[in-house]
Amino acid sequence: MSDLERDTRAAYEHAATAWASGPDQVYGHLAAALLDHCPVPLDGARVLDVGAGTGVLGDAAVARGARCVDADVAVDMLEHQHGRDRRGVGADGRSLPFRGGSFDVVAGNCSLSHVVDPQRMLADAVRVTRAGGAIVFSTFPTTAESHPAWAVVEAVLAEHGYARPRWYRHLKHASEPQVGTQDALAHLARSADVEAAHVAHARVETGVDAPAALADWRLGMAQHAAFVAQLSAQRRDAIRATAIERIGNDPAPLDVDLLVLIGRA
Ligand SMILES: C[S@@+](CC[C@H](N)C(=O)[O-])C[C@H]1O[C@@H](n2cnc3c(N)ncnc32)[C@H](O)[C@@H]1O
Repeated sequence: MSDLERDTRAAYEHAATAWASGPDQVYGHLAAALLDHCPVPLDGARVLDVGAGTGVLGDAAVARGARCVDADVAVDMLEHQHGRDRRGVGADGRSLPFRGGSFDVVAGNCSLSHVVDPQRMLADAVRVTRAGGAIVFSTFPTTAESHPAWAVVEAVLAEHGYARPRWYRHLKHASEPQVGTQDALAHLARSADVEAAHVAHARVETGVDAPAALADWRLGMAQHAAFVAQLSAQRRDAIRATAIERIGNDPAPLDVDLLVLIGRA
């Protein structure tokens, strides 16, 4: 694991509590939209969620009749899982501790962009999926427009001394472009031997439109949470209050663009 990847893991470890009370609400909608694209029935399926975080995809999969194993390199994220009867597995998505063909579906909601070599993550997903089983991974398109709350919160944080950490700059400038267009994702899938791969575009209406929820979504992101956590409670409250005020009383609801890679093992 490179220094950048260690920093990424540490950022998610630190962010786990803030993530669970902010981004979690948004990512639940994204995970459900990802599962809508799953090309095999989920009822009765054995699902693996790679980069599961707090387990929102597993929740959605279980609600559709599947069993789910949650794997994440940041164990603290797994400890915030909603599903009380699921156990998370601390594991790197590129070298999963499972035998070949163990799952009917291997999914990853917005985790593929977090490694420097996403081809390896997809290749290991193919390995642990049964022949004919499904591979579904989502990413953010690099061309997507962000909700205004995105820039508002980053600006408020910058006024308090925040600068993007190195791992996050790398993610934005080097990792995301590898998976952030339909062509790039399709090419990656072919190089990882994903069968019948195609890439869909989804616009997910999360319905999140309360100023406080939008502020918490951004403040709980892993690139922000460690910075916020080391501030005094008073400054944290001031940042949140300013963010909420600047987001305004009547923000647009949060719609999110996703790319969805769909394929077979
Ligand atoms: C943007 S979060 C998404 C979390 C979750 N999928 C969701 O939808 O809420 C990315 C997740 O990928 C995890 N991750 C990063 N690198 C990983 C790796 N090499 N193997 C497994 N998980 C990884 C992070 O710890 C984090 O939980």
